[in-house]
Amino acid sequence: MVKAPQYSQFEYTDRDTLAGRLMRRYWHPVYLSRELESGRAKPLRVMGENFAIYRSETGVPRITAERCPHRGAGLSLGTVEDDCLRCRYHGWKFAPSGECVDQPIERKSFAHKVRIDTYPCEDYLGLVWMYLGEGEPPPMPRWRRLEGDLPRFAVSDFRRFNYFHDLENVIDDAHQRHVHRDSIYQDSEYADEMPLLTAHETSYGIEHNSTFSNGDKRALLYIAPNCVYFRTSASRLRGCDGLLWQVPVDDFHHRIFFVVTAVEDEAQRLLGAMRDRLKSNGPAKPQTPAHEIIDSIVSGRMRFEDIEPRSDRLFIEDGAVLTSQGVIPDRSLDRLGASDAAVSLLRKIWSREMRALDLGEPLREYSWPDDVRPT
Ligand code: FES
Ligand SMILES: [Fe+2]
Repeated sequence: MVKAPQYSQFEYTDRDTLAGRLMRRYWHPVYLSRELESGRAKPLRVMGENFAIYRSETGVPRITAERCPHRGAGLSLGTVEDDCLRCRYHGWKFAPSGECVDQPIERKSFAHKVRIDTYPCEDYLGLVWMYLGEGEPPPMPRWRRLEGDLPRFAVSDFRRFNYFHDLENVIDDAHQRHVHRDSIYQDSEYADEMPLLTAHETSYGIEHNSTFSNGDKRALLYIAPNCVYFRTSASRLRGCDGLLWQVPVDDFHHRIFFVVTAVEDEAQRLLGAMRDRLKSNGPAKPQTPAHEIIDSIVSGRMRFEDIEPRSDRLFIEDGAVLTSQGVIPDRSLDRLGASDAAVSLLRKIWSREMRALDLGEPLREYSWPDDVRPT
């Protein structure tokens, strides 16, 4: 008997995989806007594919295939000229449309017969966004509440394991009081209580609720396919809106993008104070890279309690637990309970959508309605 496909390989996102095809139906943040200076090209790797990303001299972000069609040099080594990118190896020049417009060493140019792939991209909320799927891109998701001239931080971090168990971690509210008990949960009013954890599917993904005995409710919002929207609860930075994405670099690495915006007055005061404190501290002092601390914890040379106070402490705490699960964990061995409601639902939704994609059936059209708020 032929075994039915399980549709559980969420981790593999190369272009020809089911999860990869699903992910390529959406826009993704791929770079911090402030780290892409005008007139510079840089290498970019997303879902196992290599690209060149550059900002034109007039400030417009552009993304092209990395391979130069002449003899394969990396276009990210190239030179930005106005809105075009010129290969460093023999000087072929490509317009934003992908057309080759100059072959300086060819006596008889055949530039009009050569082109490279280019990809839709734009700056939004301090991040460069990209669509790397087939055909016309869907509308870019917008968070109007977070737009405008509000105090905002956008950060990114490179992680040395698969993106999917990081995504599961972010929608798992139960882990907070254990993993972060020495940091944000130390002084949380909810530190001693385990709330009722529930999850249900919505038009944008999943609403994951934590309900406390006094009736208080926290709602984390998973926005398909790889974003979580939440209210920050750390005492030093309470009441901001946070958006967090896990974007695969390849099957063994991913990059997180985190945007925190102070929408309300009190949060604006806290975020403003934090920014002033960082400014008055001067340039950041060199510190041990987060991945080295994670390795020290996972290998038993260091304890969670030994992490010095630092702005990325939360990421280190999560990173240690996620690293211990493996680069690509075998989730068929998991024993899920009722408190894993959101994780179970996430897996169920992904399996269902991958199956539909495989069988050519209609997929669920998730879209962010922008009138829903996390609490
Ligand atoms: S490899 Fe790019 S111009 Fe030769
Ligand atoms: Fe966490």
